[in-house]
Amino acid sequence: MTEWKRTHHCGDVSKEYVGQAIILNGWVNRRRDLGQVIFVDLRDRSGLVQIVLDPEVLGPEQFALAERLRSEYVISVQGTVLERPEGQVNKKIATGEVEVQVSKLIILSEAKTPPFQIHQAADVDEALRLKYRYLHLRSKELQDTIALRHQTVDAVRSYLNGQGFLDIETPLLIRSTPEGARDYIVPSRVHPGEFYALPQSPQLFKQLLMIAGFERYYQIARCFRDEDLRADRQPEFTQIDVEMSFVDREEVMNTMEAMIVHVLSEVKGVKVETPIPRLSYQEAMDRFGSDKPDTRFGMELCDVTAHLGGSEFRVFADTAKTGGVVKGLNVRGGADFTRRQIDQLSEQAVSMGAKGLMWFALEADKVRSPIAKFLSEEELIAIQRELAGEVGDLLLLMAGEYDLVSEVLGRLRLQLGKELGLIGENRYNLLWVVDWPLLVYDEDSERFVAAHHPFTAPLDEDIDLLESDPARARAKAYDLVLNGVELGGGSIRITDRNLQERMFRALGFTMEEARAQFGYFLEAFEYGTPPHGGIAFGLDRLVMLLANRNSIRDVIAFPKTVSASDLMIEAPAQVSQQQLDELKINLRR
Ligand code: AMO
Repeated sequence: MTEWKRTHHCGDVSKEYVGQAIILNGWVNRRRDLGQVIFVDLRDRSGLVQIVLDPEVLGPEQFALAERLRSEYVISVQGTVLERPEGQVNKKIATGEVEVQVSKLIILSEAKTPPFQIHQAADVDEALRLKYRYLHLRSKELQDTIALRHQTVDAVRSYLNGQGFLDIETPLLIRSTPEGARDYIVPSRVHPGEFYALPQSPQLFKQLLMIAGFERYYQIARCFRDEDLRADRQPEFTQIDVEMSFVDREEVMNTMEAMIVHVLSEVKGVKVETPIPRLSYQEAMDRFGSDKPDTRFGMELCDVTAHLGGSEFRVFADTAKTGGVVKGLNVRGGADFTRRQIDQLSEQAVSMGAKGLMWFALEADKVRSPIAKFLSEEELIAIQRELAGEVGDLLLLMAGEYDLVSEVLGRLRLQLGKELGLIGENRYNLLWVVDWPLLVYDEDSERFVAAHHPFTAPLDEDIDLLESDPARARAKAYDLVLNGVELGGGSIRITDRNLQERMFRALGFTMEEARAQFGYFLEAFEYGTPPHGGIAFGLDRLVMLLANRNSIRDVIAFPKTVSASDLMIEAPAQVSQQQLDELKINLRR
């Protein structure tokens, strides 16, 4: 056997092994010199253990080697496990009750001084951490999140495999199809002037797999979208992608609900109550001002328009008359907010597009508010009653167009929930949002576009709205929301040719135009198509939430920056003139 090969892992060394000779491999996490003796925290994937390099034990030649050790050297040590004396137990590390007295040291690889200490990586500038991502990945925090990602995928696979799903890969070099975001495109050398696109999702292929008779498909699928990035969006990300045949909406939702419950239980030991609550899109907007409500706390929005239509306060009366709304929320115990705090909230509301924010501090003997004097006693009482206002509360009201008011109040609600510490840690609140609008009107192109995608089926009772009132048609679509984050979304697909034609017409194109774009796909539907539907979850987002992180960058081994760059490999980058020539591409400079 190779003389340096480990017998144990650092993090596993415990009192159980006291007196035993062992061999460890790993990195020098930290070195401390105490008098003559050198102490090293040795690190491998399992954790840390302290090793002791004593000249008395090692002899001069080996000790000279020990003196060369620096952070991140890779070494092998042979030694004996010792119990640490009472006062020297280190409670901060799992192996703190023992140490290893080294009798032989081998340096396997030297290391340059790293640009940052691994255990201090969290405090370092992110650009530096991303440039040296392989060093940051050595940190416990990232080792843990990447391991958690693996466990999550493992739990997903074991659940789906057990339910008869087949894991099937679909191509990455495909044809550009208009979806929500821009495509990343790849030039073809063999077909100059022609391009592949990288898939935004395997959507069309998984439907073709249903037509092909596979009935239950899944894939841990890489997707590519050229869109504006944020903390929970990367240009390439991973979906848990699922499609099922001979199912209705209930069956897809129930199967996926069971999968997520299984994952939370396996990975976090969390038991989720089922069935997972459901809200219609409309109710989510009404009550939370968001299509992905965070239901870990209350502070729900409330519509008080009905009580203010006849108000002498012009803003309210005019809003009600012109079809707008007056909505509000109750900040419990917020009556002692300072004027400055309230002004800040108003400024934020305005910066989000609102006309203003009205407020009422409910004090013991009066309602303190700049607009109370314009309202009648009955109106004030109605507002307090609707918002369940009690002494000590702060009521916020906003008037204007429904969508804007709901959205701005929804954002203020979230912000207040965070600031006031109303969002309990370690809670996993799951919620289905259903009955989404099928179509949304696009002001730029002055036509309806599919809210989900053009193959999403309308609710049976809304089919005729496709012609009479498209904006009101709802879809057989569903999103799963976890703690206010959109985890996944999907739908039952249109499989009826006549309905598909009506859908295309509502989207403003004829069947011929549709054929030009989706020809092969529509043709496939003509050869016997089972009813089917599916969903895709953002794996990165799921792991981010399970790991209690705020960014999906923390759960992707090699992520990109918000400007879609990889700082380590320096991508994107220019290519050689020869490569361009082969592709027959001229760059415009
Ligand atoms: P959708 O576009 O809603 O649906 O995507 C599904 C889920 O993927 C995640 N997601 C992302 N995660 C990280 N970075 C991104 N840029 C990003 N974009 C999306 C989200 C989202 O909920 N084909 C359909 C699914 C279906 O109908 O079956 C689809 O892709 O968590």
